[in-house]
Amino acid sequence: MTPDIFRHLVAKASLAPSVHNVQPARWRLDGDTVLLCEDTSVRLPTADPKGQDAATSLGAAFEGLSLAASEKGLSARYETVSDQGAGNIRVVARLSFTNGASPDPLAAHVTARQSWRGAFATVAPTDRDAAMTLAASDCSVLTDPDAIAAVATLLDKASFKFMAQHDFRAELVSWMRLKRSHPDWAKNGLNADAMHLGWVERFGARFVMGPGFKPLNALGLAAPLLAETDKTKGAAGIIAFHRPYGEDLFDSGRAFYRAWLRMEAAGFGATVLAALKDDKDTASVLSGKARVPEGHHLLSAFRIGRRTSHQPVARARQSLEELIL
Ligand SMILES: Cc1cc2nc3c(=O)[nH]c(=O)nc-3n(C[C@H](O)[C@H](O)[C@H](O)COP(=O)(O)O)c2cc1C
Repeated sequence: MTPDIFRHLVAKASLAPSVHNVQPARWRLDGDTVLLCEDTSVRLPTADPKGQDAATSLGAAFEGLSLAASEKGLSARYETVSDQGAGNIRVVARLSFTNGASPDPLAAHVTARQSWRGAFATVAPTDRDAAMTLAASDCSVLTDPDAIAAVATLLDKASFKFMAQHDFRAELVSWMRLKRSHPDWAKNGLNADAMHLGWVERFGARFVMGPGFKPLNALGLAAPLLAETDKTKGAAGIIAFHRPYGEDLFDSGRAFYRAWLRMEAAGFGATVLAALKDDKDTASVLSGKARVPEGHHLLSAFRIGRRTSHQPVARARQSLEELIL
């Protein structure tokens, strides 16, 4: 492992998804091995009190590094390290590498994958067929328009339950960058471009999520303003992502990223709909609708469809200097 290859691998790993784009993974080259660490200062105490989304995000980051390593002929393995950590940094795993790997086909889709939070192009029957090909041992696919409409309602209700909580909203807003002049616009969190907000929505979001929430909610207006019904109804498919009970969330995070890359490989833009699993009652309804198999539980959900633009959004990511310890 040379310092140059290491930097290349970390750069590719940084493209992995992470909850609220907090990017918890930090990396250190240690001889021929690499330490994967977590920056615990970017945990989400309200939305993720047990660190489950952080673990999923760290697994996705490892998978990103592993995919990039495969393109360099390296096979990456990890051993968990249980470390209490010093300050904000906790060692999560030690990675070792062996030669002789062939490029993983999903690695070719890492650069193009991004969250797509815009509306989808009109769904053609061939899109539904293509969505169905994504069905896998950990992905159940719904393409029936009535079923998708039902999920749209479930999602709006579940999201609103969280949005109605002041602390949840405040934490989310602290990771939102609604103005380009925000110092972290291009660094982390959710900027207005990534959220696909128009100019009026940018201004409106600040008000609805902030001081306007209470008065608007009293008038019954906050829920419809935050709803995403049409976007969800316009999806070619809903993917219920499920994994075996008891699986380490780090491994689930690896599979989560791979599932998303398969969607990208099939030409779909995708949005994560975490509220569908975060709200327990909703998760149980969706698990029934999507026929999540015995022994598995719902870990996430996506809406997928064809993008209306292939112009990529500039990514908000930390620099290598910040990611490498
Ligand atoms: C555990 C986890 C939960 C997520 N939940 C949501 C979500 O509820 N809504 C959403 O729009 N994106 C969600 N995302 C996607 C991230 O916000 C996204 O990956 C991050 O902002 C980086 O942007 P990118 O996907 O465009 O690279 C989630 C990602 C992870 C790993």
